[in-house]
Formats: sequence, C-alpha cells, structure tokens
Amino acid sequence: MTPTLAFDVYGTLIDTHGVIGKLTEMLGDADQATTFSQTWRDKQLEYSFRRGLMQNYTTFAVVTRDALNYTDSFCKTKLNDTQKNALLAVYRTLPAFGDVENGLTALKNAGCRMFAFSNGSRDAVETLLDSAGISHFFEGVVSVDDIKSFKPNPGTYAHFLRESEAKANEAWLISSNPFDVIGSISAGMRAAWVQRSPEAIFDPWGIEPTAIVSTLTELQEKIVG
Ligand code: 2OP
Repeated sequence: MTPTLAFDVYGTLIDTHGVIGKLTEMLGDADQATTFSQTWRDKQLEYSFRRGLMQNYTTFAVVTRDALNYTDSFCKTKLNDTQKNALLAVYRTLPAFGDVENGLTALKNAGCRMFAFSNGSRDAVETLLDSAGISHFFEGVVSVDDIKSFKPNPGTYAHFLRESEAKANEAWLISSNPFDVIGSISAGMRAAWVQRSPEAIFDPWGIEPTAIVSTLTELQEKIVG
C-alpha cells in the first residue's frame, strides 16, 4: 500500500519565524521581534479557528494581515503601511526548514505520494514552495480555500482525501501543529507530529499522534519502515 502524505505547510515545511530577521531590523530588538512573531502566529491561527467556527471565511492571507494589525497594536510597535507590506512580502516567501530537502527526498525515494495541504490558498502555497525550492517534491497542492473553511474542520481532511483519491487508512498528515494532528486523527487519518522544539507541548486531550518525530528525516523509518 503506497502511503499518501499530506504535509502541513506553515510551521511544518516553512518556517513562519523567518520574518524575525526583518522584524529585528524594523524594531531594533531581537527579543521584541521574537515576541512579535510568536504573537502574530498565535493570533493568525486563533483568527482561522474563529472564522471557521463562525462560518465567516476569508483567505488565510487576509487572516494573516488582520493578525499582523492586531499584533502591531498589542505590541505598541506603530508600524507604518510600508513596513507592514514589507513583512507580508517576506511572509509570502518564507524559508523551508533545514531538514525538509533530505526528509522529502527519502520519502519520495521510498515511493510515497506527497501533497502540500494547507490553510493557505493554492497560489500562496505554490509561491511559498517555489520560493523555497521544494515544489518538485509534491504531486499537488490541496487548499482548504476550495471549501471555504479552515483546519481542523473535519471537512478539510475529507477534502484532502477526495482530492488525493486516498483512503483515510492509507493517508498520513504530517504537521508540527497539534491542532492539525488531532483534527486529522479525529477525521480517520494517521498523523505524525513534527515536534520542532523540545519545549513544544502536545495538547493533553487523550488523542495521541500515530508517530512523533523531531525532524522530517525520521519520517521514512516511521511511515515506510
Ligand atoms: C497550514 O499550513 C496553518 O500551518 C497551517 O495549514
């Protein structure tokens, strides 16, 4: 049975904290830049959850911009529009994590089907993957934008299975985001949690990842053997 792998994008393949360099330039303080970046990411996800629950969908790019505006107010950084647009431009071309190339190469060589699966719109994800030089690993991009909701709505995982023509028991979600891992397992898929930091905590819900790795290079052993 050929495993079909759904790779989460932001935070799993792509480092959302790649904006910290530009933020440090703007704010003149690396610690404040790190706090800003984490607040921005947390608020971006919170907005996606709220919009999904409210059934008040907008694109992840708008969610990201709204979260940036919130974070600017919360951190009292008084960024101007030029600075905000520069940060959003960086967000469109964030770097891949260092383990991605080798991890994806091993999985591709082992015969896995691989897709990028994201809250991001198709064009935003394609831009990110192209910019990071990793597009060639993927058979396709599946975006929740097609069904106008956000992860962890079970409909998003069902949408992935339809688009990839995979059965749930053949499919793995690969994500550094516990909400995504719990959502996909609850939808009948298997899931690997990429614990990118030893400090990262998995939600104590009693729904555990099928596998836990700290880098993508450990996945081939866990999934294919
Ligand atoms: C994704 O890429 C937001 O990380 C999440 O779908």
